[in-house]
Amino acid sequence: MTVSTRPAKVTTATLRQQKAQRQRITALTAYDHLFASLLDEAGVDVLLVGDSVATVVQGRDTTVPVTMDQMVYHTEMVARGCTRALVVGDMPFLSYQIGVEDALRNAGRLLKEGHAEAVKLEGGAEFAPTVQRLVAAGIPVMGHLGLTPQSIHQFGSYRTRGADDAEGQRILDDAKALEQAGAFAIVLEKVPAALAQRVTEAAAVPTIGIGAGPHTDGQILVTHDLLGMFTRFKPRFVRRYKQLGAEIGEAVRSYCRDVQDGAFPAADESY
Ligand code: KIV
Repeated sequence: MTVSTRPAKVTTATLRQQKAQRQRITALTAYDHLFASLLDEAGVDVLLVGDSVATVVQGRDTTVPVTMDQMVYHTEMVARGCTRALVVGDMPFLSYQIGVEDALRNAGRLLKEGHAEAVKLEGGAEFAPTVQRLVAAGIPVMGHLGLTPQSIHQFGSYRTRGADDAEGQRILDDAKALEQAGAFAIVLEKVPAALAQRVTEAAAVPTIGIGAGPHTDGQILVTHDLLGMFTRFKPRFVRRYKQLGAEIGEAVRSYCRDVQDGAFPAADESY
């Protein structure tokens, strides 16, 4: 008998099981094959090809400009680097807001061309019919509530959401609506920890927090934040486990010095 040493593939059912067994879910963003394979190898449960690619990789001010074609391109690279993690492709701004059929076509592209295994979209009850349609077509959907960066121009800031009772109740109601529509998980971004705890306790599906305190079923961060590579700003909820931005600068300065001094390449680096 041969025993497989490959870790089991993470699916939406795995995440549900993890919630039931109180095993915290780990999630990170990835935008390319190299990072995806490193993160997958390290055992992250979920890799989100976030529309944050716009700010982190493309150098944009917001996530609004990233296109559907670009999301498909990045998702395909990530999916090819993954054997275990669940790959979730983010639906960019205006790829699902125009109409349900349009949303289905675009979500389908993330699966068919990008090889994602699920999609994520921002918004609550107003998108329940969309979620329902995608799920009915066999496309797993992750919701995203609280701070929804695609709406930056409507809100005017990246402030915490759900801090007052009315907004908190709306987030609770939205979570219920997404769950009833068939979403398999819900990201909660930048909401008070106590509210995230209430949503997590009320929801049958896993919650994955970013700036939502310790009580959610899982946590997600932008990988380049965690590694200290994206340093344009640092939200309070980011923990930098490394300072790779500084280390890269140091390595490149050393290389430039060596080239200028004639110390690189050496004899054993030449033919
Ligand atoms: O695009 C993204 O990276 C996200 C996460 C921050 C949840 O939506």
